[in-house]
Amino acid sequence: MVPQERTRRSYERRPYPAADRSVLTDRRYNLPALEWIQGIGRAGQPLPRRVLVAGCGSGAEAFGLRRRLPNAKIVAVDFSARSIAHARRLQRSVRSDRPVKFEVADLTKPGLAAQVGNDFELITCHGVLSYVPDPGRVLVNLTPCLQPGGALYLGVNGAGHPAVALREWLPQFGMEMDEMQDERRLRKLLAVWDALHEDAGVPLADSSEGYLAGDICGHHFNNWDLARWRGVVNAAGWEIVGTWLLPPTLRQTLKVKAHRPLFPDGVGELAAALDGARPASFHRMMLRRGVPGPAPWDVPAGRSAWDLRWSGLYTLRIQTGRAGAKAWAVLRSRTLDMELEWPLSLAQAGLARELARSGSAGAGWIGRWARSESARRTLALWAGFGIITLAQRQGEPLPLPTDTRGRKNRQPMSRSSPCRP
Ligand SMILES: C[S@@+](CC[C@H](N)C(=O)[O-])C[C@H]1O[C@@H](n2cnc3c(N)ncnc32)[C@H](O)[C@@H]1O
Repeated sequence: MVPQERTRRSYERRPYPAADRSVLTDRRYNLPALEWIQGIGRAGQPLPRRVLVAGCGSGAEAFGLRRRLPNAKIVAVDFSARSIAHARRLQRSVRSDRPVKFEVADLTKPGLAAQVGNDFELITCHGVLSYVPDPGRVLVNLTPCLQPGGALYLGVNGAGHPAVALREWLPQFGMEMDEMQDERRLRKLLAVWDALHEDAGVPLADSSEGYLAGDICGHHFNNWDLARWRGVVNAAGWEIVGTWLLPPTLRQTLKVKAHRPLFPDGVGELAAALDGARPASFHRMMLRRGVPGPAPWDVPAGRSAWDLRWSGLYTLRIQTGRAGAKAWAVLRSRTLDMELEWPLSLAQAGLARELARSGSAGAGWIGRWARSESARRTLALWAGFGIITLAQRQGEPLPLPTDTRGRKNRQPMSRSSPCRP
């Protein structure tokens, strides 16, 4: 049996996250805050009116989005017919002006857009591609489902996922890893594991049956570091424009002023480099159509395929007359629980205000801002913090991938020059 068919059968047996009413009543929401999805993926645009949930399981993710986007048309698909039947039953049990449309569909099959639609403004795909042998094919199939200017949220397992070590450790106790066979014994062994990993957060022994069956036991896993995921994403014609973990990780380096050697040409590269040092267990990322290339601050005005936008995730206040700089940008984000103070020149303070007010960097903005290397580095870091974000330039033809890690276009930078955030 091919791995995909085994995965499908496993979800037929145990729809995820559950096959009861808890899917409706449990308000847990695993996606990042909608404000972040919107700010990084769709800055300056109205809330999405058409959303596709790709790999919806028994419906929890789609119902969570329904609560947050009451006016959107939501289509949710999965290749497990039993999961879809359960989600439809739940949908019928509640009164809704705009019911979620649940459909059986295999994301790996061509013709997906013809089946589910081609006008989505946002696609979410959470906890699905970690179990698909060729995740790049799904990313290619999803492309025609999205409207120009739309964004894809992707959540996938990382190289720091506990299953990586557990799948080596558990078999010595005779545990079968391809399929969950003895749940009671598995939980007892996981209690040993939890006792030794007290600092890891949520105890694994208390996880739901669906999680143990699909995330610890199973036939196929892509528990990959972000650099590898980025390679797959780029080869399918997408680029990472933000990750949920990047702002807090960058803050760690900024706090001890260790961020200076981090001067990549784009957010995806920066996020992958940091993940290489401390692999995450799960990656939550926003993707836009486009392949790696020089960021707008790294090329003469107008030559980048990417436009620069204010994400709207931060409020900006400019202070002058304080020591240390001509002006300070005080940046606060409630969504990201972040507060930053950035020294700027007076000219930059004016430009930052202009960008925050208009939402997008107009012609010549970059040229006026990024005269020095440290000014360009500020924009690279601001993109990492999610203060600004990148969007594909309107009407720009998609460049062909030249190098999936984006290094070909990288500009040589001096690593010793100072950065003064
Ligand atoms: C771990 S569940 C996640 C469900 C949902 N996204 C959530 O977070 O609650 C993974 C889901 O992906 C679905 N899936 C895996 N491969 C798929 C494919 N090729 N086409 C459609 N659905 C798929 C499975 O059937 C399963 O319901």
